[in-house]
Amino acid sequence: MKFIAYNVRDDEIPFVEKWGKDHHIEVTSTTTTLTTETINDADGFDGISCLQTIPYSQELFERFHELGIKYLSLRNVGVDNVDLQAAKANGVQITNVPAYSPESIAEFAVMMALYLSRKVGYMQQQLQERHEFHFSPDFMGRLISEQTVGIIGTGRIGRHAIQLFRGLGARVIAYDKYPLKSTNGEFEYVDDLKTIFEQSDIISLHMPATKENQHLFNHEVFEMMKDNAILINTARGAIVNTSDLIFALESGEIAGAGIDALENESADLQDSRSTKKITDSDVIKLSMMPNVILTPHSAFHTSESVKNMVTISMDNLKTMFNGARPNDLVE
Ligand code: COI
Repeated sequence: MKFIAYNVRDDEIPFVEKWGKDHHIEVTSTTTTLTTETINDADGFDGISCLQTIPYSQELFERFHELGIKYLSLRNVGVDNVDLQAAKANGVQITNVPAYSPESIAEFAVMMALYLSRKVGYMQQQLQERHEFHFSPDFMGRLISEQTVGIIGTGRIGRHAIQLFRGLGARVIAYDKYPLKSTNGEFEYVDDLKTIFEQSDIISLHMPATKENQHLFNHEVFEMMKDNAILINTARGAIVNTSDLIFALESGEIAGAGIDALENESADLQDSRSTKKITDSDVIKLSMMPNVILTPHSAFHTSESVKNMVTISMDNLKTMFNGARPNDLVE
């Protein structure tokens, strides 16, 4: 048995190598993105491990079939970029890693909320652009305990975010299409998203991207939100209409945004060795706003996550190859 892992970053290599040694299995790592062309490098391998946010297309799965590769093990959780029907039609089994570290993403969301509530972006702008170092009325912040936090999606990550915001004293309201049976008295479910939009000072997204929630956050919703509201997106870029978000920030419809996931993320984003400069005009605009914190899809990125993403996904690949049913089969 031998496997190939695509898009491997330097910080993943020790875990990939250790897993191979521990299991006496040959694993080849490559930094290349998995595409209809680069999949040729997988010829002769028994399965592929991968992590990327660009699409896994029908054409790609046709190439899997032509090369006789039946297993794709994702090192991440989201499957919105995977043509699951095409995978099935071409006999490719897929696994993901649903809970590599919900804490990592929830903590990042809270960090963004604190950064924006305490106006740190304005302090950084004064220092870096004007080289001044003094108080300003613009830096006056808000306590999290004075705010209502709206959580959309109460899965593992959303639940952890609720606990952290509650620990800071916030009132938490939440919406989920499939609510939990019990809230343990920690938060209150609301019946519709409109209530979240209208009542929240901070909205944090913790749901997967689906056809239904594409551009859920658009001009109409930004108008409904409070003028002092902060939107935190550590989930998926497609949920937010980026140009409407930029308009909302520039016109004062909302007060700030923490953006870790953007629409149409390119392969460059995941290339940790890239030295390319930013050319996307939306990214340039957002990066210059003091009321925005913009990060390159990095909320997941802790030592705990990396270890679990690599180890669990390689275990899944081995389980599939051995003909057993892995816990994390995506159906
Ligand atoms: C996920 O696990 O789906 C993430 O968003 C992390 C990212 C590295 C793709």
